[in-house]
Amino acid sequence: MTILKVSNLCKKIGKKEILKDVSFEINEGEILAFIGPNGAGKTTTIKCILGLQKMTSGNITINGFDISKDFVKAISKVGCIVESPDVYMYLTGLENIRLQASLYDNVTEEEIEHVIKLVGLDARINTQVSKYSLGMRQRLGIAISLLNNPNLLILDEPTNGLDPEGIKSLRELLLKLSRQKIGILISSHNLSELESFCNKVCIISEGKIIKESSIETIKQVNDSKYIIKVDDTKKVEKLLTEKDTIKDSQYFEVIKEEQEIAQFITKLVKNDIKIYEVRKENLTLEEAFINLAGGQNV
Ligand SMILES: Nc1ncnc2c1ncn2[C@@H]1O[C@H](COP(=O)(O)OP(=O)(O)OP(=O)(O)O)[C@@H](O)[C@H]1O
Ligand SMILES: [Mg+2]
Repeated sequence: MTILKVSNLCKKIGKKEILKDVSFEINEGEILAFIGPNGAGKTTTIKCILGLQKMTSGNITINGFDISKDFVKAISKVGCIVESPDVYMYLTGLENIRLQASLYDNVTEEEIEHVIKLVGLDARINTQVSKYSLGMRQRLGIAISLLNNPNLLILDEPTNGLDPEGIKSLRELLLKLSRQKIGILISSHNLSELESFCNKVCIISEGKIIKESSIETIKQVNDSKYIIKVDDTKKVEKLLTEKDTIKDSQYFEVIKEEQEIAQFITKLVKNDIKIYEVRKENLTLEEAFINLAGGQNV
């Protein structure tokens, strides 16, 4: 079932086109990594979905409800954290949760206990939030965003400032939620942080989606990276393509399929280049993706 469908979303502020024809969708249990550099339009897209900014044109439906026509129904099953979690530092985690729960009609004690356990804050829930680490604050924010029992969770750069341990526990939490069929939109400027647990990737650059694809498709890229050491990289310059990079006077990297690398090495030899070392490395998901997107760097 499709939970979120964004179609041809455009946003203009003054004369500036911030979003140009942005389209993607999230099905139940899917984690979509929404990747783009600073200023690409991630937060603007998220704010349009949440009705925090008005779109110029396009269509957004959540659980089948059009946000322009049925906003209250559309937003009723959405949990979100935009830019940073909104919590009171001088209250404890539990006090924050209770305060937010009081904004909804009927959150039970069991439900409160459930979200606390789910995000793994049981042991520290009576501590003042000012004494929490950033990762704990993020998890508290997620607990709060789960109070209305959403089936769509939207997190704007939740990994910002987290250490690898914090990212790992966020990953485990999000995987747990996706197994409960919640669809998750998670933005970041760094695909490598999300690649191990998202199912889909959408890359946005200058307000346009430059690539959308499933993780499987990206993983099927046959190319590998070869790190080659030669006597002088000046001599190889003319043999490289735009995907390849010279690292220093001796090392350079090429991205090729296995069949191509043999020919390439023959070419090096014919050009009287001395080869000292050839090392093969698998592409990271990010490199494979950039490669798929036609060498466009994000
Ligand atoms: N209120 C505004 N008025 C004018 N321009 C704006 C406004 N809000 C955002 N922009 C511009 O829209 C573009 C997209 O901004 P947005 O915040 O969506 O990017 P982002 O991908 O979330 O970036 P970051 O990674 O820095 O959070 C930027 O060029 C920004 O300068
Ligand atoms: Mg942003």
